[in-house]
Amino acid sequence: MLVYIHIPFCDSKCSYCAFNSYVDKFHLKKNYMKALQKQLAYELQRFQTKKESIETLFIGGGTPSTVSPQLYEEIFALLSPYLMKNAEITSEANPNSATKEWLAGMKKLGVNRISFGVQSFDKEKLKILARAHTPQMAIDAITHASDVGFYNISLDLIYATLGDTKDLLANDIQMALSLPINHISAYALMIEEGTAFANRPQMSYEQLSLTKWLFNEIQNHGFTQYEISNFGTYQSLHNLGYWQYKDYIGAGAGAVGKLGLTRLYPQTGIEAYINDPLHIRQESLTDEDKRLEKIFLGLRSIVGVEKNILNTQEQKRAKILLEEQKLELKENIFYNHNYLLADEIALFLNS
Ligand SMILES: C[S@@+](CC[C@H](N)C(=O)[O-])C[C@H]1O[C@@H](n2cnc3c(N)ncnc32)[C@H](O)[C@@H]1O
Ligand code: SF4
Repeated sequence: MLVYIHIPFCDSKCSYCAFNSYVDKFHLKKNYMKALQKQLAYELQRFQTKKESIETLFIGGGTPSTVSPQLYEEIFALLSPYLMKNAEITSEANPNSATKEWLAGMKKLGVNRISFGVQSFDKEKLKILARAHTPQMAIDAITHASDVGFYNISLDLIYATLGDTKDLLANDIQMALSLPINHISAYALMIEEGTAFANRPQMSYEQLSLTKWLFNEIQNHGFTQYEISNFGTYQSLHNLGYWQYKDYIGAGAGAVGKLGLTRLYPQTGIEAYINDPLHIRQESLTDEDKRLEKIFLGLRSIVGVEKNILNTQEQKRAKILLEEQKLELKENIFYNHNYLLADEIALFLNS
């Protein structure tokens, strides 16, 4: 089982981001962390969580580094008996707020992996994305994380942005790989409703040849691609868990959980969540929803698709793709190696 905790506070709002986060509600932090604790206690019961059974914990946001390690203490005290001995415990962090003290404090609590939102090492691109940090601040934060003893460090980059050139991306990759990291998430810019970029859809500009070049460049440095957006010499167990369709607790305003065929949605507003963290909407999935999602997730990642979840028609089409060498079959699992074709292959299988 996996646990996701959402921290819905940010210092500023980036031009592209539609994640549930607020820049003007810092005064609610303490009450929010209490509410999280209440929901987590409830979910541990609902999921019938056994001691030492949680494989991964992921603290995401928003910006987890806007909250001091002290405010996480009670949550860690609650969860620690349920965490496996070597559980992967990740926190996202922003370069402008992840100070050396914050990083050391989180490490002391048990966090063993940090994922930094960097997006680019180009000053101008960071401005366009409305990031609250400079390239140097990102370099310093990652160096500090390594200095305080983190070995598993990841950074996020955004590509497919208007203005991207091969030189710019080459510099991003070169800078990233000169730092003590073992994982990169590279996301194609998506235009989301309600963001500053919603009125500037031209900002998302993908040049397929550049994307292919970027993927190769990252892989040539020994970072294996294990999902369309994820590369590393280390593969995040939390990410893999999602793609393997494992159950997960989703705690916090706007988080999502999954238990069997039920999705669980706590409220998104911070105040509403604090007032009633146990007000959680349920949505039922069908077996067919699950099957389609497993096909979709499996084709986008190294998880692959079990042959026996495909119906007869789909198996026939998969055989055609095998002959065309677009899929590989190993021990009854179909693997797609070109993740850029994942959606197309899924469509073909279901057509
Ligand atoms: C949920 S955010 C939180 C990370 C952290 N607050 C930060 O910004 O450093 C995780 C990552 O999602 C990516 N992301 C968010 N919105 C995106 C979008 N519209 N298009 C592409 N990537 C996006 C960014 O790379 C970001 O670092
Ligand atoms: S990208 Fe990160 S810092 Fe920027 S608004 Fe989204 S969650 Fe906040």
